[in-house]
Amino acid sequence: MSHRIGVIPGDGIGHEVVPIALGIVRAAGVELDTVDYDLGGERYLRDGVVLDDATIAEWRGLDALFLGAVGTPDVPPGVIERGLLLKMRFDLDLYVNQRPFLAPGHEFIVIRENTEGTYAGEGGFLRKGTPHEVATQGSVNTRFGVERCVRYAFELARSRERKHLTLVHKTNVLTFAGDLWERTFDAVAAEYPDVETAYNHVDAACIYFVESPQRYDVIVTDNLFGDILTDLGGAVSGGIGLASSGNLNPDRTGPSMFEPVHGSAPDIAGQNKANPVAAILSAAMMLDFLGEADAAARIRAACAETATLTGSTTEIGDAVAGRL
Ligand code: IPM
Ligand code: MN
Repeated sequence: MSHRIGVIPGDGIGHEVVPIALGIVRAAGVELDTVDYDLGGERYLRDGVVLDDATIAEWRGLDALFLGAVGTPDVPPGVIERGLLLKMRFDLDLYVNQRPFLAPGHEFIVIRENTEGTYAGEGGFLRKGTPHEVATQGSVNTRFGVERCVRYAFELARSRERKHLTLVHKTNVLTFAGDLWERTFDAVAAEYPDVETAYNHVDAACIYFVESPQRYDVIVTDNLFGDILTDLGGAVSGGIGLASSGNLNPDRTGPSMFEPVHGSAPDIAGQNKANPVAAILSAAMMLDFLGEADAAARIRAACAETATLTGSTTEIGDAVAGRL
């Protein structure tokens, strides 16, 4: 059976890593029926299009979306981030952002809530541009939104060998949002007596990520903490060039979207220098989600075997393909 995938190469190194990742999926024996979408900063600069509702409607019929990276230095901050990436997350209800980190002999996974928190866009200006200017940026936390994300994390933890889940927040200062998260976490935990739980403040978690990441199995956290922690996770487990992610709609009411954590890297774009492994591992995660666990495992094994390799984008891609 062939899977119908919408492909957004995007900008910069996205154009280089996407064909390699999809080539490796095919080399692993999985049939893909792809449709390309030219979206991102380059497209926006050309004709002002970011992402329209008709395209979102078209995507609803697909099995998954695969994105390289988006962002161009000449586009003002927020246009592509909010108009494309966050619109995809919100409109397709991709409420889980799953980011695994592979350290030698140890894998831990961050589950980041992906549709609420400070990313919801609540806030605004008052007296903008005057000496009395006010800017507010709210954090939206709903019982429904927190619970479905926490529940996903418990299910994931239960399916793993260690069955350990850590809540990361800042309950000592964010006493409203943190309280809702903690109460929700504790209530769901009662349904998962087989899962061992822990709690870390986010600042302490930053130390543990660097000094003792072995303590973690699955982590669940809010949108902004998850954004920051997963860049740190990449940095302490082989670099952001290896960090993969899935923006998941676990209820499958729409296609999930898979992308490397890294950005478009304009400084090295077009030079065959980007590490394609983050995109390859994101494609493997997509295969897991599509029920192709065997091919996904073979791709991950091939990446692990070539982990010490250095070289150009295409050389690393060829080495991984060669191992399959
Ligand atoms: C990420 C990115 C995005 C985020 C940006 C580009 C909107 O940093 O996927 O981690 O903050 O979620
Ligand atoms: Mn980020």
